[in-house]
Amino acid sequence: MPKVTFIIDGEPTTVEFEHGKLEYSHHGKPESFLDVAMSLGVSLEHACGGSCACTTCHVIIREGAQNLSEMEDDEADRLDTAWDLTPHSRLGCQAVIKGDVVCELPMYTRNYVQEGGGIQLGKSDRKKAEVAR
Ligand code: FES
Repeated sequence: MPKVTFIIDGEPTTVEFEHGKLEYSHHGKPESFLDVAMSLGVSLEHACGGSCACTTCHVIIREGAQNLSEMEDDEADRLDTAWDLTPHSRLGCQAVIKGDVVCELPMYTRNYVQEGGGIQLGKSDRKKAEVAR
């Protein structure tokens, strides 16, 4: 049973699922981070409903990248537009989980969720924006 840890605001939440047992309800690809999160009560933003048309499901992989599906071109193209992009970034609705994995939600996404929508700058980004002025 793959263990999936979501780090949100520095707090890890770990869930487990059995392959083929999630009740797929069209939250991105079956057994993607988004599908797992929505099926097991973890809050992961998904403004486009998991159709690879936004970047609100952006996650940063901290462990277990080898346990994910290969990135396809449409995910790579969409990710290129993500704020806070890192070499370990994936779209939560597109990366399919095949084994244990740990991911972290980027700061702007956490704020997005907390504020109930509407992108907010994270504290560190706000500082950068002030310096840039
Ligand atoms: S939910 Fe929009 S790209 Fe994943």
